[in-house]
Amino acid sequence: MIIDGKKTAAELREGLKKKVAELKSTYNAVPGLTVILVGDDPASKIYVKNKEKFAKEVGMNSEVIRYPADIEEKKLLNKINELNKNDKTSGILVQLPLPKHIDKRKVIETIDHTKDVDGFHPMNVGNLSSGYSSSIPCTPLGCSLLLKKVEKNLSGKHAIVIGRSNLNGKPMTQLLLKENCTVTITHSKTKDLKAECLRADIIIAAVGIPKLVKGDWVKKGAIVIDVGINKTDSGIVGDVDFDQVSKVAKAITPVPGGVGPMTIACLLRNTVECFKKAHYK
Ligand code: GUN
Repeated sequence: MIIDGKKTAAELREGLKKKVAELKSTYNAVPGLTVILVGDDPASKIYVKNKEKFAKEVGMNSEVIRYPADIEEKKLLNKINELNKNDKTSGILVQLPLPKHIDKRKVIETIDHTKDVDGFHPMNVGNLSSGYSSSIPCTPLGCSLLLKKVEKNLSGKHAIVIGRSNLNGKPMTQLLLKENCTVTITHSKTKDLKAECLRADIIIAAVGIPKLVKGDWVKKGAIVIDVGINKTDSGIVGDVDFDQVSKVAKAITPVPGGVGPMTIACLLRNTVECFKKAHYK
């Protein structure tokens, strides 16, 4: 089975479109997403454009604030503080990576945690790890929704997460624990990654190494979620060797068309959730 992230994301957006219309008739207001883009990293520019496009498509207000790469940190923080106070802004996302002179941590911590649609604020990170309600980072949330499409009950499954980033690996681990999986977190210093992968019922590859996971690394019948987006001479490839692994796995996400589209759909979902929490108070 090839897990169709494009279709699942479109379904999710369709549901959100209805929800946004309902919210509009109830509150006479719609969720608003503000994305801040600093500099002109080509990949970030594409991501941000897509975020804006899909937010508008589901009927939200969408705003992109663009700053040059040499913007003063203070100016960026002031803008975030202004957005924190603006009722029309339900969610704030500062696109990463940021230029070196800007302290990423300060930026993340300045965003009001109730508007943190990325789920990167320490309050949300802590709430997620304690099992409390929180914004959940969009990429692992998308992975989790795709996993649940294949198998509703993940309890007792052995999952391996390759990569320990704050964006993916660590929050993914929390989501898998919530589903009662036994989780192994691996990274660049892991001794025998192949052996670790072979023990797993679920593999989440989020490490940024093209086609790292080979066919003989995967147990027959495993579910494989590929978070990688790697530019190579032969185009965009994931962290999984799709041709090899698709012959062994029970289900696998393609790249592109797997996790990628889900990330943006989950961002919109998080924005709707932030709006709802702000209005139910
Ligand atoms: N850059 C790449 N992925 C992400 C993401 O999920 N959120 C933000 N803010 N920046 C990113």
